[in-house]
Amino acid sequence: MTEVLSPDAKGIARAAALLSQGALVAIPTETVYGLAGDARSDQAVAAIYTAKGRPSFNPLIVHLAKTDQAALYAHVSDQARALMAAFWPGPLTLVLPLHDGAGLSPLVTAGLPSVALRQPAHRLAQALLTAFDGPLAAPSANPSGRVSSTTATHVLDGLSGRIAAVLDGGACTVGVESTIIGLADGPPRLLRPGGIGVEEIEGVLGQKLATAGEGITAPGQLASHYAPGAGVVLNATERPKGAIWVGFGPKCAGADLNLSVVGSLTDAACNLFDMLRKADALAGPGGQIAFAPVPRDGLGLAINDRLQRAAAPR
Ligand code: TXA
Ligand code: MG
Repeated sequence: MTEVLSPDAKGIARAAALLSQGALVAIPTETVYGLAGDARSDQAVAAIYTAKGRPSFNPLIVHLAKTDQAALYAHVSDQARALMAAFWPGPLTLVLPLHDGAGLSPLVTAGLPSVALRQPAHRLAQALLTAFDGPLAAPSANPSGRVSSTTATHVLDGLSGRIAAVLDGGACTVGVESTIIGLADGPPRLLRPGGIGVEEIEGVLGQKLATAGEGITAPGQLASHYAPGAGVVLNATERPKGAIWVGFGPKCAGADLNLSVVGSLTDAACNLFDMLRKADALAGPGGQIAFAPVPRDGLGLAINDRLQRAAAPR
């Protein structure tokens, strides 16, 4: 049985106690729900890979209570420091050179010489990290390759019975995962578009980001990801026959669902995974979901990235 914990002092204390015993707890963050375990425990981290059915070559993000804890686990460059000062706590993950003897389970980094770090902004995530008093490894709380979770109900749909508990913090406000920037080697690189726009990050660094080249992308960025049961097609400016049409903006008046009727990318990111799940339920087995075009600026880059992976051949 997976316990559902309330978003109060009692729920946080129970979540921290379970994590200290090496159990797994799904936790709300501002981006998506994370499936958290003690990042120092081989047993807890191995259990995360098992619960998700995640390939063990795909490393996890380590979540921190405080910005200055990054130096415990990684070598922090001036560029990393500038990005932390601008965007932490928040939806930004930095991949940095791993500190020798950092005390993290080697399973967290999948044996890489780098580590992904993030300080989440969510009130409950912060309270739990402080109560637990240690680093939490947390991938998105969904079975590997499937749609990410932005509510406790989504988490239970995919992982009920496989994890000890979920801390119910309601719906996530950002709705897409963190932006991942690689600073471990070479020029600063965009490894995954996410909750902070590339333009904002380039503004702080004062330079353009390199894009992920062959073989240096985040290992988890497999072509097919975020896959619902139904087929997905993109750039549908009208409803294809027999498909569930998910619109964006006021032009899509006849759509079954609309990511944002007023055309807000912030609202669309927040609604994305829930609408993907709803459209999947409406389309049914063997059905099809057709998404209207979404602009590619700001959060639109992350939304288009998730839609392309949802539509990729499986
Ligand atoms: O918003 C988020 O980032 C959420 C919340 C829970 O924090 N987490 C999340 O985790 O999206 P996950 O595991 O679904 O995605 C993490 C990505 C994967 O693509 C993984 O390959 C990449 O980060 N990653 C982790 N460590 C890395 C490293 N050392 N080098 C390159 N990529 C890394
Ligand atoms: Mg994920």
